[in-house]
Amino acid sequence: MTNSSLLILPGDGIGPEVMAEVNRIIEWFGDRRGLVFDVSEDLVGGCAYDVHGVPLADATMARAQEVDAVLLGAVGGPKYDNLDFSVKPERGLLRLRKEMDLFANLRPAQCFDALADFSSLKRDVVAGLDIMIVRELTSGIYFGEPRGIFEEGNERVGINTQRYTESEIDRVARAAFELARKRGNKVCSMEKANVMESGILWREVVQKVHDADYPDVELSHMYADAGAMQLCRWPKQFDVIVTDNLFGDLLSDAAAMLTGSLGMLPSASLGAPMANGRPKALYEPVHGSAPDIAGQGKANPIACVLSFAMALRYSFDKGDEAARLEQAVEKVLADGVRTADLLGEEGATPVSTSQMGDAILAALDASL
Ligand code: IPM
Ligand code: MG
Repeated sequence: MTNSSLLILPGDGIGPEVMAEVNRIIEWFGDRRGLVFDVSEDLVGGCAYDVHGVPLADATMARAQEVDAVLLGAVGGPKYDNLDFSVKPERGLLRLRKEMDLFANLRPAQCFDALADFSSLKRDVVAGLDIMIVRELTSGIYFGEPRGIFEEGNERVGINTQRYTESEIDRVARAAFELARKRGNKVCSMEKANVMESGILWREVVQKVHDADYPDVELSHMYADAGAMQLCRWPKQFDVIVTDNLFGDLLSDAAAMLTGSLGMLPSASLGAPMANGRPKALYEPVHGSAPDIAGQGKANPIACVLSFAMALRYSFDKGDEAARLEQAVEKVLADGVRTADLLGEEGATPVSTSQMGDAILAALDASL
């Protein structure tokens, strides 16, 4: 039997630091659980631009298409702010999403009990929160044409296009309904059907998929602005939220903050099934490259660690090992181990990125 393959793209900023901890955890699963991965590592984002002049080399793209799963850290940084748009670090990530056709972006927002007091919302609003945002990731205004900055009369005009086909809406809606069946069996679809034609179509198609194939799942519709408000007011009313690329970008950052820290949240971006039956997949923390703290050993590696847990679950069918890792993280938090982002104003001394890794490894050892 051949090993499962994993392509690791640490990227920029805190990406390499948090990924270093994930690498130790991957080794742990190889040594202690017999889950051996063929791991290769490559460049994405600004560091790829520095070497290749592009944020994602063709060879890296080709490799990403071959492996069982891609694990990515973060891309971007101030050093690259003035690059031409076409070679900005973010374009590397967007190329991966687009060419691998990773249309369903799963962003869980789960509030660990030990962190409920770190949310900017009251404890009873967030304690026990467990919602899943399913964000469409390969279409919409991120990719629609026409786009660009054009001359119009004596001034310039910036144009982006929101565009969704029925089949694009259909497939992400199905992903949301399938997930809901394994969770709380509820889907809330968010768009702006009150002002956008693409929103009208979105609502129609989601409803049609529901009525035809998922009548057992409870479906509701909400305008995305009201959805943002409800997420802050009473987030526990939601189970699965399905929404487009841009609204999903915004709503998932808001949902992330409910849980206390952006440093906690993983994500999975899934495409169509490959020959082995598992979806094409890329896993990455929701947080960015955090250039302000990069290289200082301050970053919280948990979002990246939990992204690997999602890989175990969705790409390698190891839900039990994923749960083992998630429980190790929960234990470490319950024990009061905190990186700087998880401390209040007058909190105790934070642990470093690698000390957090040590604590998670110790909790994994204890789980055996
Ligand atoms: C995200 C990020 C990306 C996005 C950026 C880095 C391109 O904000 O994954 O949420 O806008 O999709
Ligand atoms: Mg974002």
